Amino acid sequence: MSDLPQVAEILAKSRRVAVLTGAGVSAESGIPTFRGLGGLWNGRDPMSLATPEAFASDPATVWEFYRWRRDLVSQAEPNPGHRALAELARHRSPNFTLITQNVDRLHQRAGNRDVLELHGNLFDVRCTQCSRTFDRTGVALPPLPQCVDCGALLRPAVVWFGESLPQDVWGTAELAVEQADTMLVIGTSAVVYPAAGLVMTAAAAGCTVIEINLEPTPMSHFVDFALFGKAGEILPRLLAADMNPSE
Ligand code: OAD
Repeated sequence: MSDLPQVAEILAKSRRVAVLTGAGVSAESGIPTFRGLGGLWNGRDPMSLATPEAFASDPATVWEFYRWRRDLVSQAEPNPGHRALAELARHRSPNFTLITQNVDRLHQRAGNRDVLELHGNLFDVRCTQCSRTFDRTGVALPPLPQCVDCGALLRPAVVWFGESLPQDVWGTAELAVEQADTMLVIGTSAVVYPAAGLVMTAAAAGCTVIEINLEPTPMSHFVDFALFGKAGEILPRLLAADMNPSE
């Protein structure tokens, strides 16, 4: 973290900031990440839980996994990392864009508005037949929930492996990283595309890229600065420096 003062100075001088977050930003809220020890994909096969094919062949098992995750996330609280990003957004609005791969809505609960959810979220559901989307926050779902309009099976409104990202959200995210002068890449293993490709897009557009992670990732050799440590500890320090650049 010896680069932190230099990174803080770069951030303080930036005009437009874009942020990409992954599961690591929610780890300190008690939400498991996907990869690594204790990760959701450690001992579970993502292909049998997070693909359209898995849902078509065994919707009850897929729904059980997603209902469990909804419960887990509903009981969690935003952590100091989420709160620092919400504060940074307030301080820098409108020249701040938060892009997340997370489906837990903890950024919104911390106070971030206009979050670009690349992979959807756990609380909206979508009809497999008529495609209507419904907000089911705080609602206990039955094992196989049905559409109130047409009676067909509902699915989680998340992006599964093999599916396209929502085009409007993706387009806005690409534009934001192209226009940013600094990008923070926080708590993501940066192995899932197209989301991870935003880092290259930003770098190609001349943006200074700063990674914050517990450990090196495939992106670390590519970024301008890598800060190793907990997002919930580093982000409040960057925020403090951004609010008081002279300190
Ligand atoms: P991963 O589980 O792949 O990576 C989490 C990253 O967070 C790792 O690099 C950890 O080192 C880091 N990390 C853990 N705790 C941290 C902390 N306290 N502070 C900072 N960093 C920390 O999660 P994602 O990169 O988000 O997609 O995964 C990307 C996508 O893969 C997810 O959106 C999901 C998953 O499969 C779909 O389901 C489509």
